[in-house]
Amino acid sequence: MIREIATRPIAGQRPGTSGLRKKVAEFQAPHYVENFVQSIFDSLEGFAGQTLVLGGDGRYFNRETVQTVLRIAAANGFGRVLVGQGGILSTPAVSCLIRKRHAFGGIILSASHNPGGPEGDFGIKYNVSNGGPAPEKVTEAIYAGTRRIARYRILDAPPVDIDRIGDVRLGNMAVEIVDPVAEYRALMETLVDFDRIRALFRAGFRMRFDAMSAVTGPYAKAILEGALGAPAGTVMHGEPLPDFGGHHPDPNLVHARQIYDLAMGPDAPDLCAASDGDGDRNLIVGRGLFVTPSDSLAVLAANAHLAPGYAQGIAGIARSMPTSRAADRVAAAKRIAIYETPTGWKYFGNLLDAGLATICGEESAGTGSNHLREKDGVWAVLLWLNVLAARGASVAEIVRRHWAEYGRNYYARHDYEEVDADGANALVAALRERLPKLPGTRAGALAIAEADDFAYHDPVDGSDTLHQGVRIHFADHSRIVYRLSGTGTAGATLRVYIERFEADPARHGLETGQALGDLIALSRSLADIPRFTGRAEPSTVT
Ligand code: G1P
Ligand code: ZN
Repeated sequence: MIREIATRPIAGQRPGTSGLRKKVAEFQAPHYVENFVQSIFDSLEGFAGQTLVLGGDGRYFNRETVQTVLRIAAANGFGRVLVGQGGILSTPAVSCLIRKRHAFGGIILSASHNPGGPEGDFGIKYNVSNGGPAPEKVTEAIYAGTRRIARYRILDAPPVDIDRIGDVRLGNMAVEIVDPVAEYRALMETLVDFDRIRALFRAGFRMRFDAMSAVTGPYAKAILEGALGAPAGTVMHGEPLPDFGGHHPDPNLVHARQIYDLAMGPDAPDLCAASDGDGDRNLIVGRGLFVTPSDSLAVLAANAHLAPGYAQGIAGIARSMPTSRAADRVAAAKRIAIYETPTGWKYFGNLLDAGLATICGEESAGTGSNHLREKDGVWAVLLWLNVLAARGASVAEIVRRHWAEYGRNYYARHDYEEVDADGANALVAALRERLPKLPGTRAGALAIAEADDFAYHDPVDGSDTLHQGVRIHFADHSRIVYRLSGTGTAGATLRVYIERFEADPARHGLETGQALGDLIALSRSLADIPRFTGRAEPSTVT
């Protein structure tokens, strides 16, 4: 029986760049999930009888929310919902299923790399029919819906058994419980050379992949240890746990320290890698060498043609604005276009749909291609494996040769997390005000060449996105970027991105901190960070 439940708006249900992300306790409040999911459906048209994809990263509250979404979807008239077995689907796997099964859209239950468990975070994200995150006009419509909602529709029915693969009915709707990995693995087989990678492992290549007790465990085990024949134990923390084993499933140098230390240790494997909570991010560390996500994007773009899925070459490269400009040099050498977009994966969607870009990436450990409309952690690792197998060289050799050919973009991101929001906003406002006066002045030893507040004009739909971060360009091609995070759940986070280009191979072996030294000091004084935030040092450096 379908029930109409009277409800009223709950404050703060505004989806950001990566959906609605809050503390678990907030999601557990009465009507919270129902209001939001009904508002998603209220913002859409034409889904009657259509297919929806549903799954999440396995974090606490995932299973309960799957059941709630199913009952609301059934009451709203969806024809079929594809659910990953156990409620598990990585973000890229949802994107893959939406595309392969011509679904109307998908709901992803995840707070990405944020901690899980009862005290941690939860999230709900809606993806559209191209497999990518909902564009702003959809998320704004969802938000508007949450502010006027007065009722939601829900089917009265017992829970669906989501652990057994196969079809069941829920009211008039079909529920299809699918293997979370199968379609995704089949797609990977069309993109990278599985035979070649199999031969690599047979020849003794050693890797460790840290799934961080999050969603990629089943994918990495099935593909690396299963299809590609890597030895058992290659995948670490391969079981998705509701609290991710108490860890922060963020594959950066802080939270994926174990894999990093392994790569730097005496018995380092040839490749160390990790992915995040929902499987869209990646960390690549060679023996003794961490590959920054910006460099990884550039190296993959330069070498993608070595993999069967990209054998015809790539049409263009897209990177988010704060990502280093290493990829720009690859694009220039290949005479292909480079696109600079605002932070957030959704800005790549139009470029990929229009065939303007093939490979894209962000400095925040996201890399992807036109195979999906999400960044894809396991794909990035597989493409690296393909490149390593094809080139017959180590990660470090490939990266060093890349720098020798294109130059090196030293790069670091400094995060000032959970600072006072008013202070952070005031800092950015003060910078913006000074922008017109900065060019031509000196900051320390450096001359400021240009300064602006990044605005993006989408070449496909003609839309403009303003105020995406303050960019300070120096005469020596160094750059400092300031922007506020759009994904935090407490206070504000100021992100400062610092980059310096070095053409001379004799100077490619410096420590990043050493290479960026003067710029780091400048990044603090230029924006008066201590005064506005009360912090002398960033809380995280990646
Ligand atoms: C962060 C990253 C950004 C990424 C987003 C979602 O957003 O910086 O590149 O797209 O998470 O994973 P931010 O917190 O900086 O707004
Ligand atoms: Zn993620």
